Amino acid sequence: MSKEIVVSGIRSTGHLHLGNYFGAIQNYVKMQDGYNCYFFVADYHSLTTHPDPKDLRENVFRVLAENIASGLDPEKVALYAQSDVPEIPELYLMLNMLAYKGELEKVPTFKDKVRQQPDNVNAGLLTYPVLMASDILIHKAVKVPVGKDQEQHLEMARNFAQRFNMRYGDYFPEPQVFRFNHDAVKIMALDGSGKMSKSENVNATIFLSDDDDTIKKKIMKAKTDAGPTEPNAAMPDYIQNLFLLMHLSSRPEVVDIYRSQYNNCNIRYGDMKKQLAEDMAAFVRPIRERAVELQKDEAALRKILKEGAEKARASASQTISGARKLIGINY
Ligand code: ADP
Ligand code: TRP
Repeated sequence: MSKEIVVSGIRSTGHLHLGNYFGAIQNYVKMQDGYNCYFFVADYHSLTTHPDPKDLRENVFRVLAENIASGLDPEKVALYAQSDVPEIPELYLMLNMLAYKGELEKVPTFKDKVRQQPDNVNAGLLTYPVLMASDILIHKAVKVPVGKDQEQHLEMARNFAQRFNMRYGDYFPEPQVFRFNHDAVKIMALDGSGKMSKSENVNATIFLSDDDDTIKKKIMKAKTDAGPTEPNAAMPDYIQNLFLLMHLSSRPEVVDIYRSQYNNCNIRYGDMKKQLAEDMAAFVRPIRERAVELQKDEAALRKILKEGAEKARASASQTISGARKLIGINY
C-alpha cells in the first residue's frame, strides 16, 4: 500500500523553541518512516511582516538546521523552502479565484493581525489561508500535523479543494488535521503568561539555540508560589508546566520524586527548578550543537534545500499540470 501524504510547514519568523520542538517537530520525526512527508520552511508566509532580507535568509537556514538537528532526515522526507517550488504560487493564483473577500476577512487569525498591525493590512495577509491551502493541496496531502490555532486554516483548505472539485471535477482530496499523539503537547511560557512563542514572551521561552547558562537562568526565574498547603492539591497551570517540562527532559524516577514531594506538601521549587535546569540544558545541548555545526556549512544546507525542492517539485508539477488541464489551460 502506498504511504499517506503528509504536509506541514514552519514559518521562518524567528528562533525555534521548546513549543515548536515538542508540539510539532518531534511529531514530524516520528512520522518520517510511516508516511510520505513533505516538510517545508514557509518563507513566503513570513513576508507578510516585511522581514529584513538578511534576517529572513538567516532564519531560513537556522530553521532548516534546527529541524535536521532535532532528527528530521532529509533522506527520508522532502525538506524544502516554500519559495523553491514555483508551482505553489501558481496554485495559489488559481485558488485565489475561488476565495472570497468576505470569508477571508472573517478568519480569526486575520482579524488578530488587523488588530496587531493596523498599518500593514496587506493582501498577502488576507490571502494567507489561500497560500497555506496551496502548500497542502499541491501534494494532494491528506494529513496535516498542526496545532489547534491552525484548524480554521485547514477548514478553509478543505473548502477551496471542494470548490475546485465542484467546478472542475474531482481532483483534490480534503486534508485533515492530524495529531500523532492524541493530546497535543502545549508548552506554556515560564512566566505563566501564555504559550512559549517565537515572538512573544521571549524571556520566558526556551529556544533551541539558547546556551546552557541561558536555559538555567530562564528556568530559575520560572513562576512558582509558596507551594501546596494540603496533600494531593490540584496544580496551578504554571506548576503543571514545570512538571510537563520535567517529564519531557528528566528520568521518570526524578519526576516521581518531585511529584510525591508535591503531593506531600514538602516540595522545594528551588531544588526542582535546579534539577529541571540541568536536565533541560542537557536535553537541548546536542540539538543546539548539531544545529550550530550544520549552519557552518551553508553549501551543505543549500544542497539539502535543492534536493528537497526537487522531490517537492516532482509531486507539485504533476498536480499543477492536472489542475491546468481541468481549468482549460492546455493549449
Ligand atoms: P510560533 O507561535 O512560535 O510562531 P508557529 O506558529 O510557527 O510558532 O508554529 C509552528 C508549530 O509549532 C505549529 O505546529 C504550532 O502548533 C507549534 N507550536 C508553537 N508554539 C507552541 C507551544 N507553545 N506549544 C506547543 N506547540 C507549539
Ligand atoms: N500557518 C502555519 C503556522 O503559522 C504554517 C504553515 C504554512 C503551514 N503553510 C502550511 C502548516 C501548510 C501546515 C501546512 O504555523
